[in-house]
Amino acid sequence: MKAVWVVRLLVLLLVRWVPGYDCLVGVNGTATQPLLVDLTLIRNATEKGAVCLDGTPGAYHLNRGSGSGENNWLVELEGGGWCNDIRTCVFRKTTPHGSSNYMEKQIEFTGILSNKPEENPDFYNWNRARILYCDGASFAGEGYNEAAGLYFRGQRIFQAAMEDLMSKGMQSANQALLTGCSAGGLASILHCDEFQALFPGNTEVKCLADAGLFLDATDVAGGHTLRSFYEGVVTLQGVAKNLPRTCTAKMDATSCFFPQNLLSNIQTPTFLLNAAYDVWQIQESLATKEADPKGYWQACKFNYSKCNDDQIKFLQGFRNQMLDATKEFSNLKQNGLFINSCFAHCQSERQDTWYGDNSPTIQDKGIAKSVGDWYFDRAEVKEIDCPYPCDKTCHNLVPR
Ligand SMILES: *[C@@H]1O[C@H](CO)[C@@H](O)[C@H](O)[C@H]1NC(C)=O
Ligand SMILES: *[C@@H]1O[C@H](CO)[C@@H](O)[C@H](O)[C@H]1NC(C)=O
Ligand SMILES: *[C@@H]1O[C@H](CO)[C@@H](O)[C@H](O)[C@H]1NC(C)=O
Repeated sequence: MKAVWVVRLLVLLLVRWVPGYDCLVGVNGTATQPLLVDLTLIRNATEKGAVCLDGTPGAYHLNRGSGSGENNWLVELEGGGWCNDIRTCVFRKTTPHGSSNYMEKQIEFTGILSNKPEENPDFYNWNRARILYCDGASFAGEGYNEAAGLYFRGQRIFQAAMEDLMSKGMQSANQALLTGCSAGGLASILHCDEFQALFPGNTEVKCLADAGLFLDATDVAGGHTLRSFYEGVVTLQGVAKNLPRTCTAKMDATSCFFPQNLLSNIQTPTFLLNAAYDVWQIQESLATKEADPKGYWQACKFNYSKCNDDQIKFLQGFRNQMLDATKEFSNLKQNGLFINSCFAHCQSERQDTWYGDNSPTIQDKGIAKSVGDWYFDRAEVKEIDCPYPCDKTCHNLVPR
């Protein structure tokens, strides 16, 4: 009888242990621990009004650096779309993107946030912080809607998070990098020079925008889906006053929420990492249900190998617009680019795209190496891929 119980216990232990163990085994069989990082509420967030849509304090995850990276800081702004009207912002109040009550107490740091040299060769021992996104306007709004109980405090969250990190040692950083992907990629463009201005002149400050090149493009129906959407975000959330003055002095605020109108005015060295066929933009701004009521793009937008010649031509046009939007930016020696011809959205946070055995490359050079070469001035990096379907190294990540 006892033996049966021992066996049962062993089976139970194995069943509980084996699935977890599977992902703890590294590439060469050595056990690697996933890095789990605790949630921290921004210090004095409530008194500073640095609150999420529902009024709860903003938050971040921080893993401290060590050794040669002890005084270097990487700050990542989390992404997660935007909310452009009362209904969609109220919806967020019961999600992690609108309330710190719903945020994960611990998250895993991977890719550019990893603490392992074999996963993140250049930044693994830096201080690495991920500022959580709970305002819905790329950390740039300022306002309050009493009727709906909505706080639009993205700009204050950004500022209070920076003040908190400064007090935790970032003020004496030797090197710093502001990054982010998607709405966070846009945020890292919007806040780049402001981030740089927080530091004394001897700190080397740069910015990396991953999948942040949202284009003011024409959708498949000839309309401007994303422009109308951004107009809602900017108006509802009081974003105009926080946009770079160099842009708002010349054009309307909605235009100044588009990177293409900001890039040539950024003073701080910046790197743009983007898939030329950004799948978020294809699905949510170019071939939306509204722009494609007959579903002509349905198969193509969820599986690029089902696109017909006309559709590929349209997508090549989109890629050309992206390249045009970065031309002037690219001429500046201090800037870097990696625009690969893949169907993806965000490639720096995922381990498989950031740095691994068969990660995406352009001319044999992967993303982590390209970003590191640019950051540390080891080489100039202006990598523009040949157009689809030439690149065989893509990790095409098309959400359904
Ligand atoms: C496993 O790989 C890592 C990184 O490639 C290396 O540092 C480590 O020494 C390897 N371990 C063994 C046991 O081969
Ligand atoms: C938080 O508030 C306290 C008391 O007002 C102040 O001493 C401290 O410097 C503040 N910390 C930050 C990070 O703003
Ligand atoms: C995409 O379409 C191709 C060709 O029709 C098919 O072979 C492939 O399995 C599809 N991929 C997915 C993820 O559905």
